[in-house]
Amino acid sequence: MKRSEFGKIVELTKNYIKEERNWGDSEIMVKKTSLKNKENLLEEFRKKIANCKKCPLGSTRLNMVFGAGNPKAKLMFVGEGPGYEEDHRGVPFIGRAGELLTKIIESIGLKRENVYIANVVKCHPMIDPSDPEKRGNDRPPNIDEISQCIPFLERQIEIIKPKFICVLGSTAAKSILNTETPISKLRGRFYEYKGAKLMPTFHPAALLRNASLKKDVWQDMKKLRAAMNS
Ligand code: URA
Repeated sequence: MKRSEFGKIVELTKNYIKEERNWGDSEIMVKKTSLKNKENLLEEFRKKIANCKKCPLGSTRLNMVFGAGNPKAKLMFVGEGPGYEEDHRGVPFIGRAGELLTKIIESIGLKRENVYIANVVKCHPMIDPSDPEKRGNDRPPNIDEISQCIPFLERQIEIIKPKFICVLGSTAAKSILNTETPISKLRGRFYEYKGAKLMPTFHPAALLRNASLKKDVWQDMKKLRAAMNS
């Protein structure tokens, strides 16, 4: 090999190592910033939509229930919409169904603070909005409310970038997967959704009405846990 060729190879190798180092540093920087950014981006987004009146629920809610939990969560749970308790406190899943959801989360070795929890609609859908103080006044959100609100959930998913999403119940699963297939057929399988593995299962409120569904949810949770650990 000529001396000049050798020199060229040495030069190219040096540049390569330098670039690799820079790339490594910038990767670390990008990761650090993006962790902080997720929190900031979510908060900025929350403020931006806090006074939303795109659908009639915006005029009857007490509080918008944006979502709660860890912005860096690997796993996100998505429910249908806030109920009475959630509307009063602005926090998702804190009523009886929420207590059960907490137990479900703990059954796979996690805590509520480890995951992120949100809903397909952010404001309380009521059967009779003229009597907002009435408990048991909940109804599923309708198609217009869902289509106005679901872009908010999509943005949350875009920011959090969870690896796994567990969708709770028929309304949420059908609207996210854009299908009419019943939850009993959708549940327990993984679907690709915005870069995440998404699994629908029964809603905790359905388990409160029908305890025989608990074993199905337990099967689904074991599958989810196995996939998360693999
Ligand atoms: N049910 C839901 O789907 N979401 C909540 O936040 C509470 C109850």
